Amino acid sequence: MAVTRTLSIIKPDATKRNLTGAINAKFEAAGLRIVAQKRLHLTKAQAGAFYAVHAERPFYDELCTFMASGPVVAQVLEGEDAVAKNREVMGATNPAQADEGTIRKEFALSIGENSVHGSDSEENAAIEIAFFFSGLEIVG
Ligand code: CMP
Repeated sequence: MAVTRTLSIIKPDATKRNLTGAINAKFEAAGLRIVAQKRLHLTKAQAGAFYAVHAERPFYDELCTFMASGPVVAQVLEGEDAVAKNREVMGATNPAQADEGTIRKEFALSIGENSVHGSDSEENAAIEIAFFFSGLEIVG
């Protein structure tokens, strides 16, 4: 299995509750390395651009409002099969369906306020990483 990268976002519900370190500890315990990280407060327009793929979904406006409601921490995670590994560590989108020990089971409040985002494919990971980071900012 190759070493690859994925984009992670620690969402406003988690930064508000001071959970960045606890979430990062889960990534590191699973063998994912944080090779880039920055805290920023997105505008609603920036959140909308990031989630443009969901523009037709009924929850799009709520999602963009939430993602602009407080600070987020954008990260690049690196490791063996990083996209799949991160999705395993995050757990299901809906915390009610997430496995024990996952980030969403432990920390998420609801399907919307679900503490973390992770890329769903290697193709999208490349697009999402480029949305937040330049090559110079990623130090493996
Ligand atoms: P994320 O992995 O960031 O990708 C898109 C997000 O949309 C998802 O996590 C959820 O937080 C959010 N989402 C998905 N379904 C719903 C829903 N039914 N209501 C509100 N938000 C949702």
